[in-house]
Amino acid sequence: MEPQDHPQVGLERLIFPSPIAWVGTDQADPEYALLAKLKPGTVLMMGNNPALPRMPARPRLLDFFKHRFTDITVAHLLRSGHEALKAGHDEKIVLACLLHDIANGCLVRCDHGYWGAQLIAPYVSEEVAWAVKYHQALRYYADELVGYQYPQSYVRFFGENYEPPEYIRRDARVARAHRWYMSSRLITLFDIYFFEKADPIDPELFTDIIGRNFREPEEGLGFDGSPVAHMWRTMIWPNNSL
Ligand SMILES: [Fe+2]
Ligand SMILES: [Fe+2]
Repeated sequence: MEPQDHPQVGLERLIFPSPIAWVGTDQADPEYALLAKLKPGTVLMMGNNPALPRMPARPRLLDFFKHRFTDITVAHLLRSGHEALKAGHDEKIVLACLLHDIANGCLVRCDHGYWGAQLIAPYVSEEVAWAVKYHQALRYYADELVGYQYPQSYVRFFGENYEPPEYIRRDARVARAHRWYMSSRLITLFDIYFFEKADPIDPELFTDIIGRNFREPEEGLGFDGSPVAHMWRTMIWPNNSL
């Protein structure tokens, strides 16, 4: 039985997928077909999707790890933060590693470093958001002096001799010359892919570091009126039609 506090209770909800997920793919444009299905008793989904875990009324950062981010993103971020922690890095570096790919978790993959930096900017130090933004560009460029090589996984993902676009080349140069370079570079050093199942890491391991370095808004992420609140709300209600 569906909880009564879901909106649209008793109605058939149609999910109108966001165009960014299907434009250019082999999936047909779903828009006309979906609109044709609208009839009495059928609506376009708004609000809580009963198929997704319920978020608390005032969501906190770890709620997104537990209830929204995809399995691979969660495992990757926890692993990255854990490796930075074990290596004895500052809390700001551990946090940056823990958050560096959150845009991929439930929002958007393209330009994920830039989206991820925006998502966290109101809540973390400027340096942490900066490091997250630039890790995307720095990933493409080796720095032998600190032991960072071009990732073999990128050869597999993007093909041999893939050349990043000019804005990535430019931002890598900007990052290289910046005083916070190593903060972003460290993200790339701990950006380790473990697609096979590894021992799970308990997100609560990071509770204290988050508490000291991430200003959780009292109203909850998505509801604090910040310039990025809508981005967090989009992850709470990813299937809203509008
Ligand atoms: Fe990344
Ligand atoms: Fe990553």
